[in-house]
Amino acid sequence: MKHRNFHLLDCKLIFSYYDLYRHYAINACLAPLYSVEGMHVITVEGIGDSGRSLHPIQESLSQAHGSQCGFCTPGFVMSMYALLRSCNEPPSEEKIEECLAGNLCRCTGYRPILDAFRVFAKTDDLIYTKTMSENNLSGDFICPSTGKPCDCGKGTTNSTETSTRGKQYNPFLYNKIDGSLYSERELIFPPELLLKKVMSLSLHGFEGIKWYRPLRLQQVLDLKSLYRDAKLVIGNTEVGIETKFKNLQYKVLISVTHVPELNILSLNEKGLEIGASVRLIELQKFLRKVITDYPDDKTSSCKAILEQLKWFAGNQIKNVASVGGNICTASPISDLNPLWMAAGAIFQVISCKGNVRTIPAKDFFLSYRKVNLTYDEILLSIFLPWTRHFEFVKEFKQAHRREDDIALVNAGMRVFLKHDHGTLEVLDASIVYGGIAPVSLTATMTENYLIGKKWDDILLQGALKILQEDIVLTENAPGGMVEFRKSLSSSFFFKFFSFVTNELNHKGFLIEGLNATGLSAIQPNYRPLTRGIQCYELTRHGTSVGLPAMHLSSKLQVTGEAEYADDVPTPPNTLHAALILSRKPHARILSIDDSLAKSSPGFIGLFGHRDVPGSNKIGPIIHDEELFASEIVTCVGQVIGIVVADTHDNAKIASNKIVVEYEELPAILSIREAVKSCNFFPNTGRCLTKGDVELCFKSGACDKVIDGEVQVGGQEHFYLEPNSSLVWTVDGGNEIHMVSSTQAPQKTQDYVARVLGLPLAKVVCKTKRIGGGFGGKETRSAFITAAASVPSYVLRRPIKITLDRDVDMMITGQRHSFLGKYKVGFTNAGEVLAIDLQLYNNAGNSLDLSAAVLERAMFHSDNVYNIPNMRITGDVCYTNFPSNTAFRGFGGPQGMLIAENWIQRIAMELQKSPEEIRELNFQNDGCMLHYGQVLQSSTVSQLWDQLKQSCSFVRTRENVNMFNLHNRWRKRGVAMVPTKFGISFTTKFMNQVMDFLFSFQIIICSFPCESNLCIK
Ligand SMILES: Cc1cc2nc3c(=O)[nH]c(=O)nc-3n(C[C@H](O)[C@H](O)[C@H](O)COP(=O)(O)OP(=O)(O)OC[C@H]3O[C@@H](n4cnc5c(N)ncnc54)[C@H](O)[C@@H]3O)c2cc1C
Ligand code: FES
Repeated sequence: MKHRNFHLLDCKLIFSYYDLYRHYAINACLAPLYSVEGMHVITVEGIGDSGRSLHPIQESLSQAHGSQCGFCTPGFVMSMYALLRSCNEPPSEEKIEECLAGNLCRCTGYRPILDAFRVFAKTDDLIYTKTMSENNLSGDFICPSTGKPCDCGKGTTNSTETSTRGKQYNPFLYNKIDGSLYSERELIFPPELLLKKVMSLSLHGFEGIKWYRPLRLQQVLDLKSLYRDAKLVIGNTEVGIETKFKNLQYKVLISVTHVPELNILSLNEKGLEIGASVRLIELQKFLRKVITDYPDDKTSSCKAILEQLKWFAGNQIKNVASVGGNICTASPISDLNPLWMAAGAIFQVISCKGNVRTIPAKDFFLSYRKVNLTYDEILLSIFLPWTRHFEFVKEFKQAHRREDDIALVNAGMRVFLKHDHGTLEVLDASIVYGGIAPVSLTATMTENYLIGKKWDDILLQGALKILQEDIVLTENAPGGMVEFRKSLSSSFFFKFFSFVTNELNHKGFLIEGLNATGLSAIQPNYRPLTRGIQCYELTRHGTSVGLPAMHLSSKLQVTGEAEYADDVPTPPNTLHAALILSRKPHARILSIDDSLAKSSPGFIGLFGHRDVPGSNKIGPIIHDEELFASEIVTCVGQVIGIVVADTHDNAKIASNKIVVEYEELPAILSIREAVKSCNFFPNTGRCLTKGDVELCFKSGACDKVIDGEVQVGGQEHFYLEPNSSLVWTVDGGNEIHMVSSTQAPQKTQDYVARVLGLPLAKVVCKTKRIGGGFGGKETRSAFITAAASVPSYVLRRPIKITLDRDVDMMITGQRHSFLGKYKVGFTNAGEVLAIDLQLYNNAGNSLDLSAAVLERAMFHSDNVYNIPNMRITGDVCYTNFPSNTAFRGFGGPQGMLIAENWIQRIAMELQKSPEEIRELNFQNDGCMLHYGQVLQSSTVSQLWDQLKQSCSFVRTRENVNMFNLHNRWRKRGVAMVPTKFGISFTTKFMNQVMDFLFSFQIIICSFPCESNLCIK
């Protein structure tokens, strides 16, 4: 085993049980080291390296251009590797997509990644099935869809080739260097582990933590009686979150993964018994088998649970997370608890003395994260009864994103009917919701109402009414979206009614089923396989020009060898830092007390504004920010100070012990509040005019005038690599050097020089590569490094700071949210004659780049439309949020989005299609834009027509309309939206490009450091 780094970069690793050879991908950051004792752990570095040879998965990913910044890449490789190693035959494409559901990529996009991995599906690539085919060795192209040799994907490298459609990549079966088969080089299960007997463990860890791994239930019970507060742990997917992010500390952990009594999966004539430690992935497999082996009637609950598991986390979580862990966490948004309750499951609980009691699932959840277990009891197993004839169970879940997302609302519903002389009467019902109360909530009144009623439309209408009384969500209910969540609860019941009705109708027990359009309410959610095609021209000249070259670092990225700031080896005397952050949006600092921190392990010191040797004032354009807040804090997450300790963990622990007292002051928490109180940054008001808006409105030329408002929300940058820097002094403190994960080394250099009072020449900032930036590490990374430079300079010691994801998100600002208020005049034909627009952006608590962002939004407020009369005003709003900043598009998308809103409104007003309004108003050559530029060589109309034809837009729209006509509850939409994007910044020093033109050579210098501003 080779493992170098256990951090997010290598977040996915796989481990194998020696007895069964099961290979699972798991999240390294949630796997305690002790939990993998006796297992073979493989990290991305173990399967291939750039010097020797890549693994076929790595090779394929790098050749298919599947990595840009590369920070997510090892995770994708390991998920795919675990899938291939655990498959007995080549996986289907569905399986490949499923195994990647828990992996995120922010910059490459998923098409090339899926293209790279698709070659391992259903092909003749039999590395993992051990029967090699001659065809592959001969290099023939194997069609990914048929698994047979064919010509469909043969790439050509003719000197000129046009319209190349998405390239197909062959699986890589043998090492190009020495010709050996990869299957021969695959890591074997270590023989020493084969011989190793599973042992119970009793280990001691950091700060006196005890880790036990008993092998029998009795040992668990003994330990539990010895340590009253001991925490049971299985997958650690909940306990890990509690200790990492909620600062909870458990001194005694009992890992119950290896206890056979807790891992039971069995069947009897009454139902299924599921041990509390059973992993969700095992439960999934078991239920799949049960459903195929047993009659439909009996397995309605099994189907519902299986279906819910499909949308429960990614495989990396399901591979370790347990049934009991989910139940005992008692999360109000647990996806399974409403189903256990609705399905009538019974929980078996055992006490330390060995007494077993049973509790119906519906009585198990007492209040927020509190369950019906005494301190000396543990959950033993779950009994799930078979469903009966005329008994139906169904699952529901609505989340922002279908895969791997927490529920907004979920539910489990069951009904048991009596069929008597053609009528169907409800004998029993369970309606349970998650996500609307502190516990999974039973809709008791609705259940009572249903019992004894005939299964018909009257029942439906009555139940929907009573449900309103059961589901009480106050306006300020945690989670927000109150109206939506209420309507979800009704719509789930409606779907349940439709589902049961349809089942009964199919089985011939109900004459009247759902009509054709009504069926759309219950169609299962099926997402077809992801497909993407790129069409581009290949015009090859000489050896390189015109060829899609592989990313220069791709081999390092796919093997995990690419080094990021956090990988840089730290000098031996390095200290670690954690930030002290404001918890109030606007407040006066009354006191900062570090007395508790002083006795914290490894604590070295707390540094604040008084320790800054140079200036405490920073900012990219104007210096309107404080490095460390001195008297007043102006947002949650503002840096007040920095704690230094001997390790990263100790720095975090000590920082949590610093007590800051505040006197709260009134805060501005929205653009509207800022507008109302005219809280704008000085000298940032702008106005652009063209023609005469007032005159046009007054002239009567406009047949219609409408006004409206558009709010555009902000967006987290979510680069995968959080901010990280290592700072050290040179020459006794006369110079300071740093490696930083910044997009802007020069700004970082500038900030550090300023706060330390050093000349720029004495400050060196190096950025090798970063794991994504998207603008978020442009200005909002420099202050973090500058903060770390202060203790480094004062103590003359290297300081390392790496932010946790939640801290990074809290303090680094976002894309600007915008408010647009418009009045637009147009003719009955749809020609836009005048627009009067006021734009406001939310800058947060400092100016940063907000004025330039606002200006770009104003420039893009016409999108591609020629409007003779325009007036656009703009103001930059001060609010008590962390300063918002650059983000891909830099204000352009917000400006265009607002424009498209009034185009849509005009279309609705005139009852025309938006495309018709767009086409009528396109800008053409010679058109004068509202900032004085005359358009030349405009290709908008031409491109639009070409695209409209090539994507068969008109036919697609007809199909969509037809679909919507025939489907009452499920709707489709299609839109075609043009954009025009102007380059260059109004903050002029940001427009930098370097080129040297020699006799016959052009050298273009760019600064690609994987920030993902699309230099490709
Ligand atoms: C990325 C991610 C995605 C997730 N997605 C979902 C999702 O889609 N839906 C969802 O519902 N949840 C989700 N979760 C939550 C979590 O994964 C589940 O609740 C999981 O089933 C917990 O199991 P575990 O084995 O990891 O629990 P652990 O963290 O090991 O334990 C959880 C708790 O249960 C207690 N416990 C465990 N076994 C017993 C027992 N036998 N007796 C008494 N107490 C016991 C532990 O002491 C602990 O308090 C997600 C979590 C993560 C990190
Ligand atoms: S390459 Fe996937 S996040 Fe950057």
